[in-house]
Amino acid sequence: MKPALGVCYYPEHWPETMWADDAARMVRAGLSWVRIAEFSWSRMEPAPGDLQLDWLDRAIETLGAAGLKVVLGTPTATPPRWMLDRHPDMLAVDEQGHIRKFGSRRHYCFSHTGYVQECVRIAAIMAKRYGRNPHVAAWQIDNEYGCHETTVSYSPPALQAFRQWLAARYGSIGALNAAWGNVFWSMDYDDFDQIDLPNQTVTEPNPAHVLAFRRFSSDQVVAFNKAQADVLRPLTDAPLLHNYMGRILDFDHFEVGADLDIATWDSYPIGFLSDRLEADEAHKTAFLQQGDPDMQAFHHDLYRAVGRGRWWVMEQQPGPVNWAPYNPAPLPGMVRLWSIEAVAHGAEVVSYFRWRQAPFAQEQMHAGLLTPDNRPAPALSEARQTADDLKQLGEVNQTRAPVAIVFDYASDWAWATQPQGAGFDYFRLVFSAYRAARRAGLSVDFIPPGDIPTSGHDLILAPGLATIDPAWQDHLAQGTKLAILGPRSGAITDDFQIPEQGRPGLTGLDCHVDLVETLPPHISRPVNGGGSARHWIDRVSGNAPDLLTFDDGAAALKGIDGLWYLAGFPDDDLWDRVIAMAAEATGTEVKPMPPGLRRRQTERHTFLINYNAGPVDWNGYRIGGCDAEIIRNDPTDNG
Ligand code: GAL
Repeated sequence: MKPALGVCYYPEHWPETMWADDAARMVRAGLSWVRIAEFSWSRMEPAPGDLQLDWLDRAIETLGAAGLKVVLGTPTATPPRWMLDRHPDMLAVDEQGHIRKFGSRRHYCFSHTGYVQECVRIAAIMAKRYGRNPHVAAWQIDNEYGCHETTVSYSPPALQAFRQWLAARYGSIGALNAAWGNVFWSMDYDDFDQIDLPNQTVTEPNPAHVLAFRRFSSDQVVAFNKAQADVLRPLTDAPLLHNYMGRILDFDHFEVGADLDIATWDSYPIGFLSDRLEADEAHKTAFLQQGDPDMQAFHHDLYRAVGRGRWWVMEQQPGPVNWAPYNPAPLPGMVRLWSIEAVAHGAEVVSYFRWRQAPFAQEQMHAGLLTPDNRPAPALSEARQTADDLKQLGEVNQTRAPVAIVFDYASDWAWATQPQGAGFDYFRLVFSAYRAARRAGLSVDFIPPGDIPTSGHDLILAPGLATIDPAWQDHLAQGTKLAILGPRSGAITDDFQIPEQGRPGLTGLDCHVDLVETLPPHISRPVNGGGSARHWIDRVSGNAPDLLTFDDGAAALKGIDGLWYLAGFPDDDLWDRVIAMAAEATGTEVKPMPPGLRRRQTERHTFLINYNAGPVDWNGYRIGGCDAEIIRNDPTDNG
């Protein structure tokens, strides 16, 4: 696969006289893809039924004639104001019961069937008009599901849909009462129509009720996306995609992805570092203008799995953003480095957000490749340089990584519902495992729960995997040399009860959770020989050998050949030990990496990505600050 570059463009923001010059400059910058139209509904249909698509015809023609391939977005993340007059109850409602009003974007509730029909209608109009247009080479449906906390809505349409969903899932109200344990606190219901949404209760609602609502909310996103995919499919052969976001877990991306051809995501490394990553001040200072060295790669690898191998970066940060608490500029070289890193992880396209900085509205402080007055911004030359680098690089093909991590969105919903300890967070746990594998120089794949590839990763990690069924576990055993489960794996049923067989309930491993402790963030429990556990401790007993013990003698890691259970949330030192032990047990070669330097192996190349501001020496290589070293695995390979 030969990677390419692209850009996000808003022809409706600029006089038409600028379009041809913009297109020619994009091509000169080495870009070959351009995404348009995803927020342009008010210009496509200024009044209900008044379709004004001539400008879009001309925009597509101008961009296409310059040699660009167009990603055409359906504009359903930004319904125009008149839509509200037609559907006054289409707005989402937050947990406190406040309506989320018009005046920004994503102002719709996924459960509003009238709005879903409007989306289907506009998607059909676009697909009929552009489905066979030779310049339209991909379709983006909507924009960033879940962004701005929009997956979960407590609206009246959501309530109606939730009751129907519950009736379909449980069949009878008796079954629901039993599954949820509603005998507790006399919460039994007589009828599905008595069930409310799980907000504004006196104290915490039943976690089974909340988890069901979270599953339902995810299903609504899947259905919303599918409604448009079903309309587009028969009318175009171009691939369908969506642009996901970073650290948004509140719908099942694997399920949305199953109805699409390519997963894409929006990568804002510096925004994420300050906005959505827990790290100490020293780390945030060291990587202030580069972003966290694992955060982007984590999502690249995750979305490669969501896209079943096919994925892009749809929006790449090109300079300061507008939405984080503080917005520093990337160090010189970082825009190129982020792009190359994405390619190392298999991106087919890296597309910058956006072409020219907007001079108006919410994002006027968000950098683009050009300044608002049409001069090159610093990122433009880095994009150009990246295009040249990619030409040199040729084909980049992925191979199976030695390590796989099971990623399960429903586990996040479960643990967010009942964290038990304020520091226990599913993303944080999985990300800590991911970082540890990367510190050991190992490439990582993600796999959805239930999908264990038979040809085998050496090591599979499934930390915090809420529910484990025995058939899955058998399959897992056949698919890998070693699986490490825990902490908090196999801890609940699908309906949030403690499993009958106890926890973690693994066949073949005599290991039982006797009690669970959670700890405040400044406390940790040392492990003999180094490292410690924090946030969460499973106190386990059983005849399976203790591979590591806490300083009070309790087991920290139990295991038999092929299956280990980790009894606490490891700090970095403990993860490093566990990964080293696992590598030894599976015969996997580790290559310890210095801070900020990361390694990704592909079929023909080894990429060394240096997030540090200064140079790093590693294994005979000197890698410059904010730079990459790309090594051919076969030195005689010149292609
Ligand atoms: C993304 C979004 C874009 C733009 C960008 C700014 O989340 O998809 O439309 O808002 O952020 O960084």
